[in-house]
Amino acid sequence: MADYIGRQLGNYKIVRLLGEGAFAQVYLGEHIYLGTQAAIKVLHAQLANEPLEWFRTEARTIAHLAHPNIVRVLEFGIEGNAPFLVLEYAPQGTLRQRHAKGEVVSPSVVVSYIKQVAEALQYAHDEKFIHRDVKPENILLGRRNEVLLGDFGIALLLQTFKDQPLQNMAGTVAYMAPEQIQGQPGPASDQYALGIIVYEWLTGERPFEGSPTEVLSQHLAVSPIPLRRKLPTITPAVEQVVMKALEKDPRRRFPAIRQFAQALEQAHQSSILPSERLNMGTGVSAPPSGFERPAPPLAGNVIPPTPVLPQSANAGPVTPSALPSVQAMPQGGSAGILVSRYTGHRNVVHSLSWSSDGVRIASASHEKTVHIWEAPTGRRLPLYKDQSYVVSLVAWSPEGSRLATVGNDAQVRIWDVATDRLLARYTGHGGSTINAIAWAPSRPLLASAATDGTVHVWDATTGNPLIIYRGHVGSVNTLAWSSDAFSSTGPRIVSGGDDRSVQTWEALTGRTIMRYQGQPARVLSVAWSPTVYSPSLGYSFSSNTPNVPSSSRIACGRDDGFIQMWDTISGREVLSYRYQAPLTTVTWSQDGRRFAYASEDQQIEVWDTMTNRKVFVFSHTAPVRVMAWSPDGKHIASGGGDATIQVWVAP
Ligand code: ADE
Repeated sequence: MADYIGRQLGNYKIVRLLGEGAFAQVYLGEHIYLGTQAAIKVLHAQLANEPLEWFRTEARTIAHLAHPNIVRVLEFGIEGNAPFLVLEYAPQGTLRQRHAKGEVVSPSVVVSYIKQVAEALQYAHDEKFIHRDVKPENILLGRRNEVLLGDFGIALLLQTFKDQPLQNMAGTVAYMAPEQIQGQPGPASDQYALGIIVYEWLTGERPFEGSPTEVLSQHLAVSPIPLRRKLPTITPAVEQVVMKALEKDPRRRFPAIRQFAQALEQAHQSSILPSERLNMGTGVSAPPSGFERPAPPLAGNVIPPTPVLPQSANAGPVTPSALPSVQAMPQGGSAGILVSRYTGHRNVVHSLSWSSDGVRIASASHEKTVHIWEAPTGRRLPLYKDQSYVVSLVAWSPEGSRLATVGNDAQVRIWDVATDRLLARYTGHGGSTINAIAWAPSRPLLASAATDGTVHVWDATTGNPLIIYRGHVGSVNTLAWSSDAFSSTGPRIVSGGDDRSVQTWEALTGRTIMRYQGQPARVLSVAWSPTVYSPSLGYSFSSNTPNVPSSSRIACGRDDGFIQMWDTISGREVLSYRYQAPLTTVTWSQDGRRFAYASEDQQIEVWDTMTNRKVFVFSHTAPVRVMAWSPDGKHIASGGGDATIQVWVAP
């Protein structure tokens, strides 16, 4: 078999082998002029003249499939007699690489994958295309962890090459619909293949195993064992949907592949409550009915509807006496429901970061490894980074392909997660300890705050410094970016420290915007609300529209238990509230609807910012050092003094 490494195909220099299948090798290629990366798929088959022309026509047709969940074909060519395709590079590899054979994948992750693949296939079916080779090896993950279906029509192209030995089909027969085996594929054949994938991910086993011939005859004549007999925690509703997609007669499957995905999602959602109940640890009280759906009024355990946040942007500061007092709160909020507990750390967990696709959590606890694990199951993933230094902080980049780590050598390193390659390193903090890092939401910038009173903003691609902010006296403990990246002066940062002040400043110039003093206690945590406050609408989503003044809020948590919140336009304090213990984290959910704080006394409390009600209380089994919302707002992860990370269902 030809090895193309170091050679050139079209305008691409071949860098390394990405994967190899029965029909093709896939290489990473780098454009010789542009330096851009692409996946180069070289088919093993050698083409004679007539099929070559047919292949060209076919490749042209495939290249016109344009959908956000389909790998784009950028170019194709012929090297000698070997045809090759230049494809959009999917740096995170395939779902077969992400989930090894035999692995059980959590239902919510399965639903998220299937919805995206089904959208790609629905589009193709509407364009009169059938994929014919849907399998985890052909489903890739893009730069932002989006699902990309690849190898469109490759099966069709390969029909040109007759007499493929059956052995070569081993990867494919596992997913092949009965009518396709009989030479009559239709759109429903792709649905059947997707049904087999769902079966495999949910149960950890494919419905049919054996030699290729045995598997083919089982597709034709044997009914799959119902999923629940393999894994009883799967609900009847989910089982029914999957079994329908696996009907032998294509007319008995869902009329369209999108309907299959929708039915699966609905069945899964209706099943969340019972399955979460199964996961409940002991000693937690019952969840309010219908969580994950809009919560009904929680009679008896809500905070009296005291206006915590003013209903108009012009309202004056709310005095502490007008706010719910600590005494009014003890029974407020329902008890949280523990979903999983990650126990891989040996020390206090100091840092955790949820990837933007919600699938992975990275965490650090002053050990020489970064732990990466699956959320919300708590299953440890094989990716570890053995370091020669102790790691204190971790942070995923917003698009999820890079990880920033802070070492006890005062350096910040940026890693490419897919390849484990060190991309950049920031060494500007000298000998100071770095207390906090945060990625800018929409630019390749990082900010890092240190004990010497500085915050550095630097280029995450090159490691070059941009500005150093020196507005604090004494250690800077915490920082957060504003989400309004399009404000006329660029993104802003809020920082807080031992000097008791909270400061907002322009990230690109270092110009101080406002100093907030307030309570005389150290600031341990700050947050910038992702919302814009509109007097008529209440809270609305963050406006990334230029020239719309964003009246967002900032909040801080102090070591005397005070939470303070200010309006960034008026500079006015809109909330001041004292909790009974030091507050280590304050944070809004990504949609800005809920606000949570975590404390040294083990508690996490969640507020609804619309109703001003405390909706949930989570009790970690040790002081909480760090907490984070999942990107979809459905879960909260807390890391604590007991070296565990616990994932909770958020109301
Ligand atoms: N393996 C197969 N196709 C690929 C692609 N487009 N990107 C990365 N890896 C791949």
